[in-house]
Amino acid sequence: MTTTDTRDTTREHPAWLPGESSRHLGGRRVYIDAHGPLVDTVRSEFTRAMAAHGGRFVDVITDAEIVVILVTEPMAPNPAHADVAAVREAAAAAEASPLTPEGYILARRDSVTAIVAATDHGALYGVLDLMRNGEPAPGVRREQPAHPIRMLDHWDNMTVHPVMGAVERGYAGDSIFFTDGEVRRDLDRVARYARLLAAVGINRVAINNVNVHRTEALLLTDKLPDVARVADVFRSWGIRLHLSVNFASPVLLGGLESADPLLPEVAEWWREATDRVYDAIPDFGGYVVKADSEGQPGPFSYGRSHAEGANPLAAALAPHDGIVHWRAFVYNHHQDWRDRSTDRAKAAFGHFVPLDGQFADNVVLQVKHGPIDFQTREPVSPVIGALTHTNVAVELQVTQEYTGQQKHVCYLGPAWSEILRFRFAGETDGARPVADLATGGFVAVSNVGTDHFLTGHPLAQANLYAFGRLSWEPLADPLRILDEWIGATFPDADDHARAVIHSILDSSWATYEKYTAPLGVGFMVSSRDHYGPDVDGYEYSRWGTYHFADRDGVGVDRTQATGTGFAGQYPSPWRERYESLAECPDDLLLFFHHVPYDHVLKSGSTVIQHIYDTHTEGVQDVLRSQAAWAGLSNRIDSATHERVTTLLVEQVRSAGDWRDQIQTYFFRKSGVADATGRPHY
Ligand code: GCU
Repeated sequence: MTTTDTRDTTREHPAWLPGESSRHLGGRRVYIDAHGPLVDTVRSEFTRAMAAHGGRFVDVITDAEIVVILVTEPMAPNPAHADVAAVREAAAAAEASPLTPEGYILARRDSVTAIVAATDHGALYGVLDLMRNGEPAPGVRREQPAHPIRMLDHWDNMTVHPVMGAVERGYAGDSIFFTDGEVRRDLDRVARYARLLAAVGINRVAINNVNVHRTEALLLTDKLPDVARVADVFRSWGIRLHLSVNFASPVLLGGLESADPLLPEVAEWWREATDRVYDAIPDFGGYVVKADSEGQPGPFSYGRSHAEGANPLAAALAPHDGIVHWRAFVYNHHQDWRDRSTDRAKAAFGHFVPLDGQFADNVVLQVKHGPIDFQTREPVSPVIGALTHTNVAVELQVTQEYTGQQKHVCYLGPAWSEILRFRFAGETDGARPVADLATGGFVAVSNVGTDHFLTGHPLAQANLYAFGRLSWEPLADPLRILDEWIGATFPDADDHARAVIHSILDSSWATYEKYTAPLGVGFMVSSRDHYGPDVDGYEYSRWGTYHFADRDGVGVDRTQATGTGFAGQYPSPWRERYESLAECPDDLLLFFHHVPYDHVLKSGSTVIQHIYDTHTEGVQDVLRSQAAWAGLSNRIDSATHERVTTLLVEQVRSAGDWRDQIQTYFFRKSGVADATGRPHY
């Protein structure tokens, strides 16, 4: 148990790889028969661990306690290797079913741990597994990622944007990459971050905001040497760097008169610019593009489709094995709230599904998980199910824009897991979950910054960890991942402390949902910063996010029969389920239906009583978490304890505010008394 505050204010608080060196790697005799740039990284991890905890490299495999070897196809029989049971078993498993490039096998027998991989990347992941989890259980375990693209997008600006700050929707300090309009000179923090990301399987990072302002546009050209320095840091952890680029770059940076994607000079500009990027960064990952979205330029200005817009960039990247991540977040952000026929939820489907099959092979359409915008509860975007001839990446939001802004505890693993497990074809045999439909992998918006704890709220680190682990193993149990994170992050905590941390996090998303917008209706947040309640904050705005509460009822009618028709974008059985008031799941009721306050939910409660009850319960849940956390004061490090304690005070305050405003709002609108007799204002 650590009770001292070991805080070094020049460095961030250790996350799931505590300390400079892994004690799991130290104190051992280590045999490495592998090569490649990432094996150099592995070797230096062992060297550091040995300097801190003892141990040494050995030349003879039979002397080793940890063995790292690469196998190739067919496996070269090495008689010396075969003498060691763990190696023999791991190699046999590799031979029985070949390893994928990033996969590895961990085997343990007779106090020897063997890590067998087919590439240096796999070997690195195997060693990082050991660093996170310690010695594996006896036996053989195979690990390989479900998808090759596992990516974080940073919404970092180079200069502090007047409205959005250094990191758009960032709640953890400044950008770790940029300061004062430049790439930081000192990239040590980035190196520590890269190590953490690699340890959870992230292999691509876009370093700048999807809203590409003038200064950031220069990353593609003038600032390239500095971008290359960042790429060098990530490279030693097997992570490829991507840039968000401005669609109008040929005009902004190249001085052309038009960025019309069909003009030969525009395509040529992209080709030349891209070639220069690869001269500087040979393993550059590609471009992220937010086009025709919330004021960003795009192909619509030239009467071109989004496929026509994306393909010239893809053509420029293709010879270099680069990818375009083209975002599907395209909607009219100047909607007239009086017009009840336009539905923002329908927009992406309308724009992109007709283009299915028209995107180049190295375009990945990056689709937000829900049809609106990272709300606490949304149905899965029907676009993900409808595109069968386009690479699709599911975009999640690790930064807690709408889920408490890293002031509230909100572990999103269970939310993401529901999305990844969702089956558009229903529960029939052979129906594929979203996890399998994401042929372009998984992307999420990062939640880190220069904050001492990396993520502002120390417990928000669990979200970053969970995204990485789910992008590797999308159907993994999010609560098992939570326990892994707790074990790796609080290695000195006793069982009681771990259980308390688990209990605070595991239902925190459900708790957050209880005290905020009810039954899937969304928003109701302050339009200024998306934090805290403002029930009508968006109701008469241009953003297309309405709840339509009046004295009789609440919710958005998105049925085909009487509403906007959005439900019809789903295949059966969801189209019928969402359409039907009787079948629509309670937690999405108000996303799909406008109902009277006395509508009876499947839970047996009425809508209005549900609103009253859940908001009271949500605050009680937070108070329980606060009391439980207080009990950990001598059981975990004091820096973490203090920070979470402070933030829980704010969470209790804010949750109370949500409860009182929502309950009061609906009491005043509906005039319906609370069956429990609770007072409302
Ligand atoms: C949200 C968010 C913006 C962001 C946008 C996006 O609307 O509030 O800050 O730019 O999503 O995903 O592009």
